[in-house]
Amino acid sequence: MKILAIETSCDETAIAVLEIKKTRAGEEFSILSDQVASQIKIHAPFGGVVPNLAKLEHIKNLPILLKRALKEARLPLGSRASKLDAVAVTYGPGLEPALWTGIEFAKKLARLWRVALIPVNHLEGHIYSALMQKSKFKIQNGGIYPMLTLIVSGGHTELVLTKKRLQYKILGETLDDAAGEAFDKVARMLKLPYPGGPEISKLAKFGNSRAINFPRPMIHSKDLNFSFSGLKTSVLYYLREHKKFSKRNIASSFEEAVVDVLVRKTVKAAEQYKPHTIALGGGVAANDQLREELVRKFPNILLPDKRFTGDNAAMIATAAYYRFTRSKNTKRSKNIKATGNLRLSKG
Ligand code: KG4
Ligand code: ZN
Repeated sequence: MKILAIETSCDETAIAVLEIKKTRAGEEFSILSDQVASQIKIHAPFGGVVPNLAKLEHIKNLPILLKRALKEARLPLGSRASKLDAVAVTYGPGLEPALWTGIEFAKKLARLWRVALIPVNHLEGHIYSALMQKSKFKIQNGGIYPMLTLIVSGGHTELVLTKKRLQYKILGETLDDAAGEAFDKVARMLKLPYPGGPEISKLAKFGNSRAINFPRPMIHSKDLNFSFSGLKTSVLYYLREHKKFSKRNIASSFEEAVVDVLVRKTVKAAEQYKPHTIALGGGVAANDQLREELVRKFPNILLPDKRFTGDNAAMIATAAYYRFTRSKNTKRSKNIKATGNLRLSKG
């Protein structure tokens, strides 16, 4: 079957078309098209994402990406000729004005093509991204579960246990800033361009990670929660107290502190829940230091291809496939509502 997926939860407009073939061992996914239009340049002057600007950009980008995606996947745009089996769309979490643009667009397409509409949780997409290696990838039946995933993005930092397919338990999460958000805020303090995560990690490679001993908030707490706002504040104090400072050393020491906490809590969760598989997902999964430290602790960890760490629609289509095959019931889909604070459910 073929699924077209739409992602507009934040500052990336994305449309992908995937073909899924069922085999005895599991499923084979082929990415026929994977279109992403980044709005970074539009939001950069504001130092962060402006929800209403994001909405206008999505409205402008969606028809352009749709044409490109259908052309690349060799599918017709016309109403009756559709060879697609379903349209999927992210309905949360994210910025509601941005989410609505994707939902409205998806509803129109599903009506035009007379196919099912599948609502997808954005975080479920990030969880599946760890299983996506290239343009063709296989997902085997069972076997990988229970799976522990560290999701680290601009809006989320969560340790999630997937007990069985589509059954999630949030083991721990951030009590304040997300890891990516902390990267972005510290980058702003250092007057680095938005988004700050990639900029900090580039600088950090040339710095000394032991130069400054930043705090590791909650690293010894008994639970599996995180907190990054205190760390961010101590970078601010450091900048106030030092007239001369090395941006490289700050970047490197800050990155080390974040990675230390993320890795320590993942190890703790792994010891406690003894998962079969450990995986990483989300925008911050592009961070090399984090990837290296996790691999050191868990040599078999599933890391998403860097192509799929940031927001994309291919991961939404993958998650949609399993939602679709479990319940063909699409009645609910007519009432899809953008849900900014949507959480992963027990299934
Ligand atoms: O998953 P994502 O694309 O969007 C959300 O769902 O939030 O994550 C974006 C976040 C941003 O905060 C960005 O600064 C961060 O991921 N990021 C990084 C790196 N690349 C992106 N953070 C640290 N190191 C990186 N290399
Ligand atoms: Zn995301």
